[in-house]
Amino acid sequence: MVEPDQPSTARMIDFWLGGEHHYPVDVAAARAFEQAYGPCAPVFRALRAFLGRAVRGIAATGVDSFLVFGAGVPTMGNVHEAVPEATVLYTDVDPVTIRLGQRILAGSDRAGYGFGDATDIGTLDPALLHRFVPGWGRRPVGVVFLGLAAFLDDETLARTLDELYAAVAPGSHLAIDFDTEELAGHPEALAMMGPAFRMRAPASFGPLLGRWTPTAEGVVPVTEWRPDGPPAQVPDAFHGAVAVRSAG
Ligand SMILES: C[S@@+](CC[C@H](N)C(=O)[O-])C[C@H]1O[C@@H](n2cnc3c(N)ncnc32)[C@H](O)[C@@H]1O
Repeated sequence: MVEPDQPSTARMIDFWLGGEHHYPVDVAAARAFEQAYGPCAPVFRALRAFLGRAVRGIAATGVDSFLVFGAGVPTMGNVHEAVPEATVLYTDVDPVTIRLGQRILAGSDRAGYGFGDATDIGTLDPALLHRFVPGWGRRPVGVVFLGLAAFLDDETLARTLDELYAAVAPGSHLAIDFDTEELAGHPEALAMMGPAFRMRAPASFGPLLGRWTPTAEGVVPVTEWRPDGPPAQVPDAFHGAVAVRSAG
């Protein structure tokens, strides 16, 4: 693979998680961000741990296939590793990330990677959907929507989540996170996130879910969503939820 000359948030997260799929340009960007904000590894490890608990919780309801949007790098405790018995379709819009993901998953018969714009489910490849999310629209599935809401305005996010709700079968589950206003106290770091980045007050998270009904845990700091033990003590940067598409 030709070495990218631009950093990617997905590969920066891989660096913070201790993975092997990042380049010097990503490490430099990650270090610059940490200069402006502070240590990021504990925050992203807590977020990845939430992903694991969320998808295992969804699988425990009987769901055995997952569709992942804005998937980034499919390693370091990502969905197919957390629920190895399930089939998983990872999607992203970034061609470099998609190629990297396809290389990592080459040879897997349970997980694949393709293009998918989360805001337009019509962009999903029907053949990949058929293979890795069989019964899409007819059988309950898990939809993973992590690291994405922060890059969508309220109207686009609400419409996208509503279209997903309409597309999936009753009993489907959504795992989602929202960025808090944590970066407000770190303007230099905030500027590095680019103009599309949206911080939100926790009170605004619930209404954006629309028809999706959060499980009893609600929308909470990701460390507090069904913690395995005492919640990790990390800055309150991400809140998360698992929400259900009810019958009818
Ligand atoms: C912050 S990274 C998160 C990656 C991964 N979910 C994780 O938590 O490690 C956001 C990812 O979303 C992708 N992305 C941005 N806009 C998207 C869209 N409209 N649809 C799908 N993916 C998108 C980016 O290319 C990037 O890989």
